[in-house]
Amino acid sequence: MTAPIVRVASLKDVDHFQQHVRSLGCAIPCDREIVTGEQSPLRQPLLCGRLRITNRIAVQPMEGWDGAPDGNPTELTIRRWKRFGQARAGMIWGGEAVAVNHEGRANPNQLVIAQHTRKGLAELRKTLLDEYRTSMGSAEGVIVGLQLTHSGRYCRPNVHHRNEPKILYRHPILDRRLGLSSEYPVVTDGEIERIIEDFHHGAMMASQLGFDFVDIKHCHGYLAHEFLSAHTREGKYGGTFENRTRFLREVVEGIRSQAPNLAIGVRLSAFDTVPFRPDPKLSATTKPGPGVPEIYKDLLPYRWGFGVNEENPTEPELTEALRFISLLRELNIRLVNLTAGSPYYNPHVQRPALYPPSDGYLPPEDPLLGVARQMEATRQLKAQFPDMIFVGSAYTYLQEFLPAVAQAAVREGWVDLVGLGRMVLTYPEFLWDASEGHAMQRKRVCRTFSDCTTAPRNGLPSGCYPLDGYYKDSPLAEKLHLVKGIDPRKVAGV
Ligand SMILES: Cc1cc2nc3c(=O)[nH]c(=O)nc-3n(C[C@H](O)[C@H](O)[C@H](O)COP(=O)(O)O)c2cc1C
Ligand code: SF4
Repeated sequence: MTAPIVRVASLKDVDHFQQHVRSLGCAIPCDREIVTGEQSPLRQPLLCGRLRITNRIAVQPMEGWDGAPDGNPTELTIRRWKRFGQARAGMIWGGEAVAVNHEGRANPNQLVIAQHTRKGLAELRKTLLDEYRTSMGSAEGVIVGLQLTHSGRYCRPNVHHRNEPKILYRHPILDRRLGLSSEYPVVTDGEIERIIEDFHHGAMMASQLGFDFVDIKHCHGYLAHEFLSAHTREGKYGGTFENRTRFLREVVEGIRSQAPNLAIGVRLSAFDTVPFRPDPKLSATTKPGPGVPEIYKDLLPYRWGFGVNEENPTEPELTEALRFISLLRELNIRLVNLTAGSPYYNPHVQRPALYPPSDGYLPPEDPLLGVARQMEATRQLKAQFPDMIFVGSAYTYLQEFLPAVAQAAVREGWVDLVGLGRMVLTYPEFLWDASEGHAMQRKRVCRTFSDCTTAPRNGLPSGCYPLDGYYKDSPLAEKLHLVKGIDPRKVAGV
């Protein structure tokens, strides 16, 4: 990447936006006028079996690295779920990643679903619905899911900087990055069976607590996603497509028998690419260079990814996602949330941003290309499964143009619900407000500074340090400032 990235905020209007998108060689639909009120495409209800979803806005799962050491929510967690309620979204996809057991936590502050966290998790759901009710009068038509996870390769249950990976197979690049020797044990089939039981217990509890559905998280490099790329694993959970999806099928089977009224959804990284790293030739000690793929020419055909072209693994390949979603349909799962890649090894694919997190790299491409790539994959997959409900991801980088793009994407059938991640941290009601015809509050628009990712990478709770008033005067903001060299008070006025 040589030319500087054009800032979205500098594009004056839809024409300039479209012109820029065309100059990048991609396509992003964008409406000229925002339709407001009942006619808004974003306000049209949807039916999913017996569930009615009141509008086309979804809040994406976003964890905060702010749970108590025993896996219960804290005041910060409750505050975040309140924000989720303020979005007035018809669907809350999962709230945040909740580990099905202690060993499966991605950090020592991740929530856990267990007997001792029952009350805390119930309170999160109640807080969110109360908040929604306060602004909308009733919470009818809002469906709330809980995202169940096991962090697999990215387990860090006990100490912030100590990885305790549970790997399904040896990965020639990621094992090296995690410092794993060739002797490092691979999770056994017996251990997998116990994890499956933990998913069953978690789902049963979620159902008892009133959640409408559980998401069996299959994305971002965590355990269930790693199953999908376990081509080289031996035994019944690796190799063939049937074996790589056995985990999903066994989890679903148990949930159906133990919590028959609970709906099931799956968040899937529909495509991936080889891990990226800062270009060593262009990096300084304090400043990472632009991202480049790790060297993979000796690893072809590439057998360690899901949704990658084996001969050219930096290229997405949707054939397996198609097959996977067909399987979901066979299993009578209609809720699908599409995302891509992983925040650990290719964050520009998963979470397009102008500024990298502290352990990342400068954008190797205009982040709009990352947005367009996820939107296009969702469009193609949705077209194949018109009867299923698709939530799309990675819209936040669109900033001022998010409402116009969201409206066009829903209107043209690219997606059923527009999922909002980072934008909810700064400006929860952004999309709803646009559909009401309210003026945009530009100072609250997320500018993808990535502090919400950098903070947890440095052992702090997540959150929008630059734009969220809560953090402005907190010692945590000072700490982050020291870590990253950003003065949150200065950037707050952007
Ligand atoms: C602070 C933070 C926490 C996140 N936590 C989760 C999570 O718990 N589960 C998940 O599936 N995705 C998680 N994500 C990814 C988001 O759901 C979303 O896919 C991503 O941010 C891209 O969407 P956006 O462009 O609207 O932010 C997280 C993202 C951020 C920024
Ligand atoms: S810290 Fe705030 S502005 Fe930055 S990416 Fe996160 S939500 Fe957006």
